[in-house]
Amino acid sequence: MFLRGSKDKGIPSFGDGANTNAIIYASQVVKTYDTGTSKVQALKGVDFAVQRGELVGVMGPSGCGKTTLLNCLSGLDGVDGGQIWLEGKDLAKMSDKERTTYRARRMGFIFQVYNLLPVLSAVENVELPLLVSGVGSKEARTRSIAALERVGLDQWAKHRPAELSGGQRQRVTIARALVNNPALIWADEPTGALDSKTANEIMGLLRELNEREGLTCVIVTHDPGIGDRCDRVVRMRDGSVVGETGPRVIAEAEAIAAAAAAAQRELVASR
Ligand SMILES: Nc1ncnc2c1ncn2[C@@H]1O[C@H](COP(=O)(O)OP(=O)(O)OP(=O)(O)O)[C@@H](O)[C@H]1O
Ligand SMILES: [Mg+2]
Repeated sequence: MFLRGSKDKGIPSFGDGANTNAIIYASQVVKTYDTGTSKVQALKGVDFAVQRGELVGVMGPSGCGKTTLLNCLSGLDGVDGGQIWLEGKDLAKMSDKERTTYRARRMGFIFQVYNLLPVLSAVENVELPLLVSGVGSKEARTRSIAALERVGLDQWAKHRPAELSGGQRQRVTIARALVNNPALIWADEPTGALDSKTANEIMGLLRELNEREGLTCVIVTHDPGIGDRCDRVVRMRDGSVVGETGPRVIAEAEAIAAAAAAAQRELVASR
């Protein structure tokens, strides 16, 4: 297995955070939880970058800081050090209100627990964030039905969560995450509560949205089968990024090796 060290960010098009094409660019992020009786350094200077259109996995043992990374990089939680740019914007320079608005407009979230309101139908659950952010009810309904269509669930719009399978419920949460047409989806163990066949289907849906619509996704997962279907997997251990694996990493390494071999051949031929 090819493993790239965290020191080598590897992707040449990444510049500094403000001038980069990267949708997420984080440098030396530190997060410490202080419970009063103890301090836990959950992130110990993490570098993390994702290009637009990438589907990136984050894997590592329980407690290594995956959820913390997701919460900090999306601005849900504050950090104690380092810098984070999202779409070239410095998260630290946004006010709380700007961060909240930015999150609502540009990001979608999918969690292991579905967080669906049981008394609402699928379409009502999907449209709720739109109504809360002031979108009119007619437009909210149209956009929510469209989002359910994108996840293949429009036939189930009127059903309540209790009438849906686990996979269908997760599709509703994906529709809810998509309803604002975000640039970026954060998913924390989106298949953790599903059997392997359904998990595979949900991953297939995320992959399809990524390929068809160019949606950028960061997926935290324990499932190697899910990791194998990401472009790249960032490996974490004990609050640090320890390396990267995956098809895109291998393709980049092969391209660099091929370019080096070609340059070598040219050099030999010119002698
Ligand atoms: N709110 C909190 N208060 C105190 N400590 C926390 C808090 N949240 C997380 N931690 C600690 O930070 C570390 C990283 O936790 P985190 O939830 O990010 O791990 P994880 O990789 O997502 O684990 P899992 O795979 O089990 O979800 C752990 O040691 C955890 O105990
Ligand atoms: Mg977690």
